Amino acid sequence: MLRIAVMVSGGGTNLQAIIDAVSDGRISNTEIVRVISNKAEAKALERAKKAGIEAISVVRKECADTEEFNSRLLAAIDEVSPDLVVLAGFLVVLPPELVNRYQNRIINIHPSLIPSFCGKGCYGLKVHEEVLKRGVKITGATVHFVDEGCDSGPIILQKAVEVRDGDSAELLQRRVMEEAEWKILPHAIDLIANGRVSVVDRKVEIR
Ligand code: GRF
Repeated sequence: MLRIAVMVSGGGTNLQAIIDAVSDGRISNTEIVRVISNKAEAKALERAKKAGIEAISVVRKECADTEEFNSRLLAAIDEVSPDLVVLAGFLVVLPPELVNRYQNRIINIHPSLIPSFCGKGCYGLKVHEEVLKRGVKITGATVHFVDEGCDSGPIILQKAVEVRDGDSAELLQRRVMEEAEWKILPHAIDLIANGRVSVVDRKVEIR
């Protein structure tokens, strides 16, 4: 049974997609053991509680400094001994110690086809604003392992989504979530839970 801890910051629609997929069997062999948010008021925490999943928050302003925040975040994860840490709309830069301790055991969902429209400062709605500004016709989402960089780890799954004339950033974000994020994140977790993913020379192989 794959034990997963899910890190959230906001609405939790990606978390909800994981919860629903575990419950209907699209994700097998998996248990969500804890949901952790950096925002005490995140709607994602309500979603977790509604599903009977332990949900806690680690809030930066309740910590004396970044060092204390990082160690509390690390402790909140270590306490439940997850096999996999899932960043589902988590908008905090991970402490290097966490990335090193959970090498190739942290995955993230990013709302573009990496390496396009990613990197420092390019997250959430901003991604879709940049997509529209550049005028690309195809965008999408990517699930990747987290490494020491920003959106730079080995890519696990991607799914393309068309950009339509007249799209607003909000409309495009919603389509990318519905048609890509909420599908490939659960799919990636199921593949990992069933031992079908390996990383060779920083490239992902799926069996
Ligand atoms: C989504 O755009 C997702 O791509 C990004 O965070 C945003 C909010 O996700 N990673 P959620 O509704 O909190 O899952």
